[in-house]
Amino acid sequence: MKTWNELENECKSCTKCDLYKTRTNVVFGIGKKDSKVLFIGEGPGENEDLKGEPFVGRAGKLLDDMLKIIGLSRYTNIYIANIVKCRPPKNRDPNNIERDACINWLHEQISIMKPKIIVCLGRIAATTLIDEDFKVTRDQGKWFDINGIKYMALYHPAMLLRDPHKKPETFVSLKILQKEIENI
Ligand code: URA
Repeated sequence: MKTWNELENECKSCTKCDLYKTRTNVVFGIGKKDSKVLFIGEGPGENEDLKGEPFVGRAGKLLDDMLKIIGLSRYTNIYIANIVKCRPPKNRDPNNIERDACINWLHEQISIMKPKIIVCLGRIAATTLIDEDFKVTRDQGKWFDINGIKYMALYHPAMLLRDPHKKPETFVSLKILQKEIENI
């Protein structure tokens, strides 16, 4: 198996789909790679593309605040990555060709990290990793066991910025997540 650094270096020169033509940086991920908990977003936006780090814009600030409530931080005890590692132009959803071309980088990250819990942020991550019929409104906060890993989805922080009324149920889900993390 590749080492993490080998995987990261390979990924950073990826040209498997057309997104490499418009990217500034490949956004491989951030955090502690020996963490038990992995958070997965959709793909880099403008700020992330410029900085080469996931979730550094307004949604990232909200994500950090949400994580702090349950004692998590990208600097100490989780890892954060995305379904696609390069920014889709104008922040559109990554299409199937891009997702299919990119997903193996994430699978390899998961194989090396061996997280116990994966938290999908929003619809794109949840439909890619949990179930193609996943509905965040219906299924966020529920546990799904897949190949020995526990998966949960939360509303994407960008959605919570658009619709703050979804924050209370997200808070309940964060507490469920916290409890599970204490038990692993
Ligand atoms: N939204 C995402 O899904 N991922 C990022 O890295 C930033 C914003």
